[in-house]
Order: sequence, then structure tokens, then C-alpha cells
Amino acid sequence: MHPIGIFDSGYGGLTIMREIVRVLPHYDYVYLGDNARTPYGTRSFETVYHYTLECVQELFAMGCPLVVLACNTASAKALRNIQQLDLPALYPGPNGPERRNPPVRVLGVIRPTTEVIGSYSKTGEVGILATKGTVLSDSYVVEIEKFFPTVRVFQEACPMWVPLVENGEFDQPGADYFVKQHIDRLLTQSPTIDTLLLACTHYPLLLPKIRQYTPDNVTILSQGEIVARSLVDYLHRHPDMATRCTQTGQRTFLTTDSPADFSRQATVFWGEPVVAGHLAL
Ligand code: DGL
Repeated sequence: MHPIGIFDSGYGGLTIMREIVRVLPHYDYVYLGDNARTPYGTRSFETVYHYTLECVQELFAMGCPLVVLACNTASAKALRNIQQLDLPALYPGPNGPERRNPPVRVLGVIRPTTEVIGSYSKTGEVGILATKGTVLSDSYVVEIEKFFPTVRVFQEACPMWVPLVENGEFDQPGADYFVKQHIDRLLTQSPTIDTLLLACTHYPLLLPKIRQYTPDNVTILSQGEIVARSLVDYLHRHPDMATRCTQTGQRTFLTTDSPADFSRQATVFWGEPVVAGHLAL
């Protein structure tokens, strides 16, 4: 078995995996949620990098030739190092570190999103809602500039949103205060922002409330469909990888914390019952 690995700090990556499986249903998938160490969004660069690399190596050890970091914080803080330093060192070619063609690949969620976000905006102003870690990394600002140099990017860190989602409070009345607070703060930076990106894989669960407190003329983007389309494109462009990933339609869910808790909570993100196993780190 050579499944596609999908990694997140907790449950949020399931919102990405759901869209990936919708468009690529025949592949095998292993989802790994590092629930024991979530949240990542408030942790240092070094910690997020260390945790992410450890989990990615576990997925490689399970036979995954391709791993998607379905987590913005991990994509912002760990992906570049893993791609540029760790993969060449872990999989050296016959003549030393193999930078061009390592046998395994890791992809993130930021690049596919920044490639398209500018095309949604008429005013040329986009807002990024994300964890503190993602905002401080400035990854969105830097990456959007590469593809859409004239687009202005405004960011707002929403530290309460992941706990609201992880604790099942995302559709409860208490969530309204924090959702409204951060939308208002972002739109105060510029009232002509016309495109909002939910740049954290947990936030789609808050979408009904985010929509409620956002003006109707503002487009709200979740990343799942964008990342899924980008993966389809990637596999077309890399037929060698597409053939190495096995296609028997199996889905495996693993968590570094309690499988019983994961199975109970994950259903909300996944949309149907989940039976998870445990991975000890
Ligand atoms: N899933 C993470 C992201 O997309 C956020 C959750 C966390 O802070 O661990 O940024």
C-alpha cells in the first residue's frame, strides 16, 4: 500500500481531505492528526517544524510517497525546510543529496491558494484570517506578491477560533463574539477588502457565522476545493507519482491522542462516521 498522507495538527485537515477525496476518490489515504500536541498555531517556528517533520517521517514510514500538509501553520513554518533540507538529506541520491528527484514529496496548502486568490478580487484587496503563527510568518503576504504583485494583503490572527472548533463550540452562541470581533478588525484595516481567505483548515466549520458577520459583497474562500484541484493538477503533471500512489479506495485515520475522542469529534469535520487508530510518537 502506498497511500497519500494527509497531515494536520488536529482535525482541521479533514476539511481539506474531504475535498481531495471528493475529486480523487480512488486513491488510498492515511490521515494523521497530531491531536496530542495541537494547537500548532501558537507555537514557535522550531517546535512546529520539529513536530511536523516527525509526523511526516511517520507517514513516509507507512509507505506514503506523497504527503500533503493540510495545515497552514505547518505549511508556513515547516514546509520549506522539509522540502529543501530534510528530503535531500533523508533520501540522498547515488551522488549525494538528491535535490531534484527525491522519491517522496511533501506539498502544502499555501502555494495552491496564493496562485489563485488574486483572481477572486475586483478591488485588489484580500484579507487573510489565520492563526497567529501563520500571520507572523508572513507567508501569505510573500507568496501572494509573487503571483499578484499589485494585490494588497491584510491579515488578522484569530487565536480563539481553533479552540472554539476543537471544543465543538463553533456553532454555539459563544462563538459569535469572537467571530464578529476578528471580522470587524480585519475590515477596519480596509473597508474595500472584497475577498476573505479562511487560511486555517479549522475555519470552514465557522463558515456560517463568518458569513453572518461579513458583508454580502465579500467573497469568502475556503481552501479545500482549491487544494484538491491543485493536487489533481499535480498528479497530472507527475505521472510517476500518480502511478506510485495506490488506488484501492482505502481511508485510514490516525491520531497521536485518544482514538475514541478523535472518532467522536472527527465526524463533524469528515461528514460521516470515523474510526481512528492511535499512533504513538
Ligand atoms: N490546522 C491549523 C492551520 O491550518 C491550525 C490549528 C492549530 O493551531 O494547530 O493553521
